[in-house]
Amino acid sequence: NKKITIAIDGFSSTGKSTLAKQLANHLGYVYVDTGAMYRAVAFFAMQNGYISTDFFEKESLINSLPFIRLQFKFNADLGFAEMYLNDVNVETEIRTIEVSRFVSKVAEVSEVRSKLVEQQKEMGKDKAIVMDGRDIGTVVFPDAELKIFMTSSATTRAQRRYDELVQKGDAVTFEDVLKNVEERDYIDTHREDSPLVMADDAIEIDNSHLNRKEQFDLVLELVTDTI
Ligand code: C5P
Repeated sequence: NKKITIAIDGFSSTGKSTLAKQLANHLGYVYVDTGAMYRAVAFFAMQNGYISTDFFEKESLINSLPFIRLQFKFNADLGFAEMYLNDVNVETEIRTIEVSRFVSKVAEVSEVRSKLVEQQKEMGKDKAIVMDGRDIGTVVFPDAELKIFMTSSATTRAQRRYDELVQKGDAVTFEDVLKNVEERDYIDTHREDSPLVMADDAIEIDNSHLNRKEQFDLVLELVTDTI
């Protein structure tokens, strides 16, 4: 079997990471959640007071970029890699709705994108990788052997994210989550640098009416066809 690169892109909360993780485990590939990297940079900006509801000190963040070190460390108990920001595990902190509120603004900054894209390309240089995000098939790995573009209705996605947050004990309302999902989609598809678009050679999967197993089986078939 040849080793390939699998790029999974799509809108917020389409279940990209669940699918990507499952696929990577099954194939013995590395899984990289690029959203976690953008979230960690957003968390850094919040921690340092560079971003809040009414301001964004973009220049300060850009000047700090050389001091932001992102690493994934595999946690064998959990079965996936966790995000570390300057040697601190920030896996929990980056998943809050506060970070979700600011992350797309941070991800619009070209200097942030080029730093992260460079690191992502490096992680994928030996292939055997499943990477998910917004620009993987278009910018990070334009030559990926398999590109998937996941979609589903905004309400389906918000409901999934809402259930997840409630389960973790976050006090959120469904309306807040829906609004956040729609806002991020808007910013992600309209930004100048690397907007979220489907690559010409990507395969679109609308999972509004597919359960996890159905999705997984469908993608596994695509992988088998490619390998
Ligand atoms: O995948 P997740 O929803 O965690 O990503 C959070 C945000 O990070 C996205 O809404 C988007 O603004 C940004 N992102 C990006 N490019 C990627 C991955 C994530 O701009 N490759």
